[in-house]
Amino acid sequence: MEKKKNYRIAVIPGDGTGPEVIREAVRALDAAVAKCGFAVEKVHYDLGGERYMRTGEILPEGTLDELRTFDGILLGAIGHPEVKPGILEKGLLLELRFSLDQYVNLRPVVLYPGVDTPLKNKGPEDINFVVVRENTEGLYAGSGGFLRKGTPQEVAVQESVNTRMGVERCVRFAFEYCRKRNYRKKLTLCAKVNVLTYASDLWQRTFNEVAAEYPDIRTDYAHIDAICMWMVKNPEWFDVIVTDNMFGDILTDLGAMIQGGMGIAAGGNINPQGVSMFEPIGGSAPKYAGKNVINPIAAIAAAQMLLDHLGETSAASLVEEAIKKVVAGDLKSLSAGQMGYSTTEVGDLVLKHMNA
Ligand code: IPM
Ligand code: MN
Repeated sequence: MEKKKNYRIAVIPGDGTGPEVIREAVRALDAAVAKCGFAVEKVHYDLGGERYMRTGEILPEGTLDELRTFDGILLGAIGHPEVKPGILEKGLLLELRFSLDQYVNLRPVVLYPGVDTPLKNKGPEDINFVVVRENTEGLYAGSGGFLRKGTPQEVAVQESVNTRMGVERCVRFAFEYCRKRNYRKKLTLCAKVNVLTYASDLWQRTFNEVAAEYPDIRTDYAHIDAICMWMVKNPEWFDVIVTDNMFGDILTDLGAMIQGGMGIAAGGNINPQGVSMFEPIGGSAPKYAGKNVINPIAAIAAAQMLLDHLGETSAASLVEEAIKKVVAGDLKSLSAGQMGYSTTEVGDLVLKHMNA
């Protein structure tokens, strides 16, 4: 993005532990911004389960149009134990991703030095890749329905919608990203061509066609099940992985675990031509809500990704370096309640390392 003196950011703390982690993320963001000599105006949006239960509103009229005017969105978490599964997820989180056309979900899987991974004999040099997850189609499109619902003859159909346009823009993003990242220069397509002979076929044909325009990028293909295996056994084989919405959802939870857990995993919902939204990927963790025990690092890493996306790379690396110091030197564990510090104290440590 083009650099500015003053950015406008929408902040959606959301449900569960969202508000606690977003508070710390905003502190880190403010500190980085102050040090780097630009300004960020923040507008808070009260959206999520509490508001839905209070007023029945999920995404009030006009909110989407307002959100479109921002330079970025920082989101905590969506999901409430007292709201039926699907209402908030589809009505709010997926609605935001779809309506704002955030067609890539960008999820880095990076093991920082000093962080424990459950993978034996693997270290930071082995675990450093990015999943480019298609974010507006596939099984998430909501296509399908019931027939004879509630009867013994019930039929449920849930279709995966894959358009040439949707697949191609995601695949192109992945090639561009891989080139810009300039790491192993290898892009792996993850699909299931041996079974999903329509959807995965479209992905593979598109991938191969686009690949011809990127002779500098090595390409590879693996089935989703095999990637789950290799991600555990040989994570060093991966640089950038591109895949559909559902496979990407599953892969990135696995990815979060091998990089040290949900306490550190962040992602971006990217619309390269519009407004992008950054979030910790761990969800609302209701059992930890209000206890000041959740790890805010993932949300702080989301703020770092937001800064990077704005083109404010110095501010972003200030935050990243502080995160690295906290996870290598201060925290006993990245898990909620086992960090040796409270949520706010971890935020304090990040600020301390930023000399803010
Ligand atoms: C994620 C989450 C969401 C998803 C849910 C909450 C709808 O799991 O961001 O990965 O499936 O995309
Ligand atoms: Mn998920």
